[in-house]
Amino acid sequence: MDLISQLDEFERAALAEIAGAADSTALEAVRVRYLGARQGRLKDLQGSLGQATKAEKPVVGKRFNDVKNAVTAALDERKRTLSRPAVAAGGLDVTLPGTPFEVGRRHPLMQTIDEFKDIMGRFGFTAADGPEIEDEYHNFEALNIPLDHPARDPLDNFYLATASLTAGTGPRLLRSQTSTVQIRVMEQQRPPIRIISVGRVYRPDTIDATHSCMFHQMEGLMVGETVTMAELKTVLRLFARAYLGHDVHIRFRPSFFPFTEPSVEVDMSWNEPGKPWLEIGGAGMVDPNVLSAVGYDPDRVSGFAFGLGVERFCMRRYGIRDIRLFTNNDVRFLRQF
Ligand code: PHE
Repeated sequence: MDLISQLDEFERAALAEIAGAADSTALEAVRVRYLGARQGRLKDLQGSLGQATKAEKPVVGKRFNDVKNAVTAALDERKRTLSRPAVAAGGLDVTLPGTPFEVGRRHPLMQTIDEFKDIMGRFGFTAADGPEIEDEYHNFEALNIPLDHPARDPLDNFYLATASLTAGTGPRLLRSQTSTVQIRVMEQQRPPIRIISVGRVYRPDTIDATHSCMFHQMEGLMVGETVTMAELKTVLRLFARAYLGHDVHIRFRPSFFPFTEPSVEVDMSWNEPGKPWLEIGGAGMVDPNVLSAVGYDPDRVSGFAFGLGVERFCMRRYGIRDIRLFTNNDVRFLRQF
């Protein structure tokens, strides 16, 4: 076989094996066999070049270089292809740009609620739930709110007119406070009790930057043999500090709620000069009448309860100035959390 034919044959065989190499290890073996500096077939061919006649030399020499270049280029190209694993695996090129899709996220209030449950969970409070559509017994009566109390005024509550919902059960309303859950839990369990309940409450109100007719409260209830007001304040302080930071202070102002005695309004402040106290909710020692209504003995057990505004905390932490942003569903707002 003349030299040109040998070079042709070499090229054909090398290109076929390069194309057939399944991975980079196999490809490297092909490279050594054909182009290897010591035992490669090209080395042998190079040795044979000396046999060419003077007339043949330029043609054979050129062919030799072309073949060498072609095989080297094919090796490089195959190497690049094999280094993209997905392409080798099944023709799927994972390096191609994909179709981006929008990933949603949890609403800032839901994130806040999760965090509240987390913090209170560390203090031993488990989460309880109650219905948003309530009867008057749980929303008022069991909470020591008598029939003639102004809090029961239909103008201050969302009473339901739907007959099928109210039939046989007396009037129903959207709960105006999460304190209803205190009753529902105490009806079911004996002390010691340590629960929170976070959820929506509804009150007719003129909507503005700080008022909404639907908002969220976190109710807390702890009942035991020697539960005191000092513990109430400690729990509230630890909670506020866990959520906002170490420099939060809690202040009690005397107040009145039918279901607690004594009762307080709870204010908080970041010990920053100039920042005013912010009211965050109400609290107090569970009224003996409430304990009796659920069958507890007020002489043997005592308890504290509190109700905090969830939006207040969230707004304070993130510097949100308008409560309506929570329900406007503006992604420019929601994306920031
Ligand atoms: N339920 C009261 C409110 O909505 C807050 C509160 C809860 C007060 C528990 C005392 C005890 O304003």
